[in-house]
Amino acid sequence: MLNKDNVAFSASFKMMSKTRSSQRTRYQCTECGAVQNKWSGQCSGCLQWNTMVESLATPDAPQRFTGWAGDPSSYHPVPLAGVSAETLQRFHTGLEELDRVLGGGVVPGSAILLGGDPGIGKSTLLLQMMDRIQGQGRSLYVTGEESLSQVSMRAQRLGLAVSEVDALAEVSLERILAALKEVRPGLLVVDSIQTLYSEAIQSAPGSVVQVRECASQLVRMAKQTRTAVFFVGHVTKEGSLAGPRVLEHMVDCVLYFEGDSGSRYRIVRSFKNRYGSVNELGVFAMTESGLREVRNPSALFLSRGEDDLPGSAITVIREGSRPLLIEVQALVDESHASAPRRLTVGLDMNRIAMLLAVLSRHGGMPVAGYDVFVNLVGGMRVNETAVDLAVIAAVVSCLRNRPIPRNWILLGEVGLSGEVRPVANGDERLREAVKHGFTYAVVPQRNAPRENYPGLELMKVRTLRDLMALI
Ligand code: TYD
Ligand code: MG
Repeated sequence: MLNKDNVAFSASFKMMSKTRSSQRTRYQCTECGAVQNKWSGQCSGCLQWNTMVESLATPDAPQRFTGWAGDPSSYHPVPLAGVSAETLQRFHTGLEELDRVLGGGVVPGSAILLGGDPGIGKSTLLLQMMDRIQGQGRSLYVTGEESLSQVSMRAQRLGLAVSEVDALAEVSLERILAALKEVRPGLLVVDSIQTLYSEAIQSAPGSVVQVRECASQLVRMAKQTRTAVFFVGHVTKEGSLAGPRVLEHMVDCVLYFEGDSGSRYRIVRSFKNRYGSVNELGVFAMTESGLREVRNPSALFLSRGEDDLPGSAITVIREGSRPLLIEVQALVDESHASAPRRLTVGLDMNRIAMLLAVLSRHGGMPVAGYDVFVNLVGGMRVNETAVDLAVIAAVVSCLRNRPIPRNWILLGEVGLSGEVRPVANGDERLREAVKHGFTYAVVPQRNAPRENYPGLELMKVRTLRDLMALI
């Protein structure tokens, strides 16, 4: 008897604990989406701090988007050979700079994520784009951050006649999908993905689960109905897109809109693009009447000074398909701290540390006791190694207090043993320099130009010592 009771009790206890465990609170990382049963300060997945947030582990069974009723949905496999160029028919956004970053235009059915700091101009850019593409089909602007009157006021201020653009102030995914069914736009803009929520999920808007669910349903909708979708994404204070990194995996294209807070120039940069190259740049200027395209940004990133000043050197970088002139500034000052400071804006800090080490070891110029600050003019950010020579020249110029003439251009990568290595597309860079009136070019020995440049004197350097002798 007692035994039987015991069995029954333990069975019911097992059931109780089962239901309790299925409703137990879990903790999910807002950065990588990793799930833990216990809260901790650091995520065990991505090692970020303070990113674990409570999320209910109730078995969500959200209603998934499965295509419009009666649509010829793509449930059936088709021969890949049959899916040819027709699918890659791009439409132009009307903004050449944006088209360039996208790889030549927007591909129908693609999902594009546009990230950027608050106030950088994401909403403005997309609204202007929607104005330009009127006549190419219907488009829908969904805003979860501003009211419709705010959007309309902005459109008026920008002088846009967005009569053919439908707008919707909504944050519920289900209602947005319903609206899409009615409007059937060719282009959808969601501003921003962090404000959306699906009623089927219990977490708050902006949480990992919500962002992932909303984005994945909209991406699926985009693919099946061949609607192009732009998501605006917030960035965290560290500068990466807020929410789970999975968002970046879900979309076809990740764009960042960036710029110096003090400068009116804005750069659209592509970090991932399934339909084009990733190192293209689009340059815009923010004016009173919205964003203006900068078609020829080549000399934008030079300071306007006319005098030769020590600590500055000019080089040509190549971003995507365009060469850009850029000015490197360096300040070297005696350090009073035990560990000298090394600060860079627009360049990789480790690269600078390496160049400074090469400079002291192979250039015979010890910089150990000096604070070194290196800055790229105009809020530009560069990963190219072709700027190495200009960085070293700027540092040396500041240290020796000898200006580098402003008609000089320096190209070249510097290796660990002090050798100067050639750069790719040397000719194209030199042509750009000639176009802007530079008359003296310091180039790596192995960048022997194939052409003759009238008016441009070439100085070939093989090692760092050659450069030092020159300045
Ligand atoms: P916005 O597009 O709202 O930024 P985001 O959506 O990225 O948060 O841009 C807002 C900023 O742009 C705001 O600080 C003012 C500036 N701005 C102009 O300078 N001129 C303009 O014509 C507009 C519309 C905005
Ligand atoms: Mg906005």
